[in-house]
Amino acid sequence: MAVPLFDTATPLAPLEPEINAKVAEIIASKRFIFGPEVEAFEREFAAYIGTKHAIGVANGTDALLLALRALGVGPGDEVIVPSFTFFASAEPVALLGATPVWCDIDPATFVMTPDTVRAVLTPKTKAIIAVHLFGNVAPVEELAELGVPVIEDAAQSAGTRLADGRRPGALGTIATFSFFPSKNLGAFGDGGMITTDDPALAELIEHYRFHGSKDKRTFVYVGHNSRLDALQAGILRVQLPHLDAWSDGRRAAARAYAEAGLGELVTLPTPTPGAEPAWHLFVTRSDRADELLPALKDAGIGAAAYYRVPAHLQPAMRPYPPTAELPGTEEAARTNLALPMSPVLTREQVGEVVAAVGALAPALQ
Ligand SMILES: Cc1ncc(COP(=O)(O)O)c(C=O)c1O
Repeated sequence: MAVPLFDTATPLAPLEPEINAKVAEIIASKRFIFGPEVEAFEREFAAYIGTKHAIGVANGTDALLLALRALGVGPGDEVIVPSFTFFASAEPVALLGATPVWCDIDPATFVMTPDTVRAVLTPKTKAIIAVHLFGNVAPVEELAELGVPVIEDAAQSAGTRLADGRRPGALGTIATFSFFPSKNLGAFGDGGMITTDDPALAELIEHYRFHGSKDKRTFVYVGHNSRLDALQAGILRVQLPHLDAWSDGRRAAARAYAEAGLGELVTLPTPTPGAEPAWHLFVTRSDRADELLPALKDAGIGAAAYYRVPAHLQPAMRPYPPTAELPGTEEAARTNLALPMSPVLTREQVGEVVAAVGALAPALQ
């Protein structure tokens, strides 16, 4: 039995009639930009995350760009960001003329720690981007104690919660989400969201996303054209009530992997204290990841390596060399091995994956 790396189709199948009806309704309304669907989704998403404001934008990269701008980040500023993340976490920092300063991660959790951030903090640090990688939770509150605003990059952590009920997206100064189709909450195209409790930041971002204007007549700032469109908002509205059940499915799959003994074959990801991750990707570690990858694929098991070349080593980031050693980043980049994860991964599929890894492991020794 083949097991795909992720499965976005099966969870959406039962929602298809409702989604089709919603799309038809929006097409009939002819309200494609801003309007009631976007406003309703912003309200519902803010309520779900637990913030006062949620502002729809075109994608998760723009969400970071606008959040950084709203915090006043520009030339001469430094922004601390992990290197072990998708390139888009750091790209908007450079785009604004500021300097990405790379912090290390703990390879057990794949997220930054107060120590790795403290190691690269300087008087020029204007913000910290806390990436909740793979659905785990970065220690936002401890980072906030360093006295610098914390932007949560929550692109991969929709559906994750803390044991006390709070969620990523409501822990820092401001947070950003991506609704790229394969994310835990995925649109049928691009989409993004910014959440915050700060009314002044929300007001700035409402201007920035539409050419620096709120009324389309007075242009207060030089802004952007970065909107979440009504069709995507409508499709996401249908899905949002199901996100918690889907996230429970992801948590159950992670438990099933542990119970099936996967942890004896490869190193399992460790949730940070208090985190109940809705694993976006189930990323294990093995010294033999590069040998296991093709062998698992041959056995019909979806497997992938993420960020083998971390952001600080990408050609575009040559102007920003690291200011500290990044051993956790190097280890995670070298050894990570993502195995199948989805809201509907069955115990049988988990059994297949663990059996395949188990069958290959001795042969590779
Ligand atoms: C951690 C992280 N940050 C930012 C982004 C950017 O989001 P988008 O693709 O919607 O621009 C992504 C995903 O693509 C991501 O995984």
